[in-house]
Amino acid sequence: MSDAVYPVPADFAAKAHINAEKYQEMYAASVNDPEAFWGEHGKRIDWIEPFTKVKDTNFKLGEVSIKWFEDGVLNVAANCIDRHLPTRGNQTAIIWEPDDPNDPALHITYNELSEKVNRFANVLLSQGVMRGDRVVIYLPMIPEAAYAMLACARIGAIHSIVFAGFSPDALANRINDSEAKLLITADTAPRGGRRTALKSNADQALLHCSDKVRCLVVKHTGDQTTWVDGRDVDVKALMETASPDCPPRPMNAEDPLFILYTSGSTGKPKGVVHSSGGYLVYAAMTHQYTFDYHEGDVYWCTADVGWVTGHSYIVYGPLANGGTTVMFEGVPTYPDAGRFWAVCEKHNVNQFYTAPTAIRALMGQGNEFVEKYDLSDLKLLGTVGEPINPEAWNWYNDVVGKGSRPIVDTWWQTETGGHMLTPLPGATALKPGSATKPFFGVQPVLLEPQTGEEIHDTAAEGVLAIKDSWPGQMRSVWGDHERFEKTYFADYHGYYFSGDGCRRDADGDYWITGRVDDVINVSGHRMGTAEVESALVAHAKVAEAAVVGYPHDIKGQGIYCYVTLMNGEEPSEELRKELRTWVRTEIGPIAAPDLIQWAPGLPKTRSGKIMRRILRKIAEDDFGALGDTSTLADPSVVDDLIENRMNR
Ligand code: WTA
Repeated sequence: MSDAVYPVPADFAAKAHINAEKYQEMYAASVNDPEAFWGEHGKRIDWIEPFTKVKDTNFKLGEVSIKWFEDGVLNVAANCIDRHLPTRGNQTAIIWEPDDPNDPALHITYNELSEKVNRFANVLLSQGVMRGDRVVIYLPMIPEAAYAMLACARIGAIHSIVFAGFSPDALANRINDSEAKLLITADTAPRGGRRTALKSNADQALLHCSDKVRCLVVKHTGDQTTWVDGRDVDVKALMETASPDCPPRPMNAEDPLFILYTSGSTGKPKGVVHSSGGYLVYAAMTHQYTFDYHEGDVYWCTADVGWVTGHSYIVYGPLANGGTTVMFEGVPTYPDAGRFWAVCEKHNVNQFYTAPTAIRALMGQGNEFVEKYDLSDLKLLGTVGEPINPEAWNWYNDVVGKGSRPIVDTWWQTETGGHMLTPLPGATALKPGSATKPFFGVQPVLLEPQTGEEIHDTAAEGVLAIKDSWPGQMRSVWGDHERFEKTYFADYHGYYFSGDGCRRDADGDYWITGRVDDVINVSGHRMGTAEVESALVAHAKVAEAAVVGYPHDIKGQGIYCYVTLMNGEEPSEELRKELRTWVRTEIGPIAAPDLIQWAPGLPKTRSGKIMRRILRKIAEDDFGALGDTSTLADPSVVDDLIENRMNR
């Protein structure tokens, strides 16, 4: 923690959309009369039929229902494209920066985007995709990913993007859970100079799916792939002959725009469902105000469209605002640790938004990689995905921002659709490590973890919950509304429970302390420990496994696994490697265990429940604070685990 405070620079405040006074005034209005506030701000997007009802939301367990602008009719793609054409048809909508810096970047204007998306939408129609059908997108960071998303939105199909780093198994699970009609993938995906065989992963996944699922393939690199006639379709070839005119389908505000699978504390990843109207209003408004985005700015979010950040802040938010958004195919360290800054210089980036894990990785490489480049166009920096430690914040501020660019530390979740706690750069004094204040319409509360009582003292610590709905809130879990209610509304009645712990300081600023459930955050990627455990126990030699997070210098958290082998199996370095590879193939490289400890036994209560609290403490090297172990069935297993803990 740090107690430094950085006041808003006066020149920034003078030009900003929102200054301190305006924030106070608008925030008060947004919570005192949400109907009036959102009724007004809901008009920031174009409606085919204007809404007459603004808000109809209920957090009561058993009756949870969230509707915004429910009788409004709109089309999301028309909002991101068509309405800009009269005024900014020739303005760049997307700057695409390829993995290899020697390949040319693309500048895609709104006119070009319109043509591509219309053609793509007609290809989808020609493949029999209809309103409400699910389309799974498994693409790298190429313009076709944005075309595919917007083409779905144009015809009212629901997209579900699966991060290209996920395994064939993970992909198949998501195709099956959403009962998708179509998969969109690419031949191969260059990243950091290497290529991932996406199509071959897709082929493997489709072996486990209905044979009715068709596969659109973007020939991106031109690498050789297998081809299944009758199932696989060359999307670029079809786009060439498709009509560049596909009327946007009028959609209801509450029609789902997309599903995005995310990890929770239990069970399989769940399909988070987002709406069309409320989601778009919220993504667009947060994008404009949090980043203080102005007409003509070049804005870059380094996330991947496989995560919610890519949805709201690479595609939907910036394009709804008629902005110029950078899409980057590569990685921060290729060809060297200066790539981010080279791209900022090359494209005159004004707002730059990344994850703390990337900052930590780059700060270790030396300042010369930053100092080589002219970053004078930068006006603002942002972070997302995990708490940022003060060292990383200070480096970002001093070396990248030259001490004069506000840093917005944005706390939000896949479930929230957009920023929830964040500074507004013209309004909010910054504190390294604090996501500071709520966005308009967001009513954060701290609850006493055991009793669920709301804590009213300003300076306090508790679990973070939200008192009332906001337009970007997820609407349900795909196919399982009960799970939606159970996950977010059952532990603390009447609130949306975030799963995060949080501290509020005497100024009313919020500091996220990390997850209070069995979700860990590895390099800003959210992972359910239960998923890694079930992958491990699926291995023939594993009897039991328990997975927890531990502090990791670069990744924020690393994956620590306690593994009990089947009777007769011998632990070995080789087996460790085998298990690591196993989890990579079961889930994907982002889930690969960092440390595997052989555990002859796991600490369990007499009723057989694994005591994760103890395992977490051992993994954190904090075994002075194990707490009460007397309820364990066999307290001696703890000594063995401590003695044989893994070195970090
Ligand atoms: C964590 C990513 C601290 C948090 C947009 C949350 C953060 C989870 C921050 C959601 C932040 C995200 N400070 N923690 N600024 N932003 N988190 O769904 O634990 O991938 O619950 O959404 O990331 O991760 P998700």
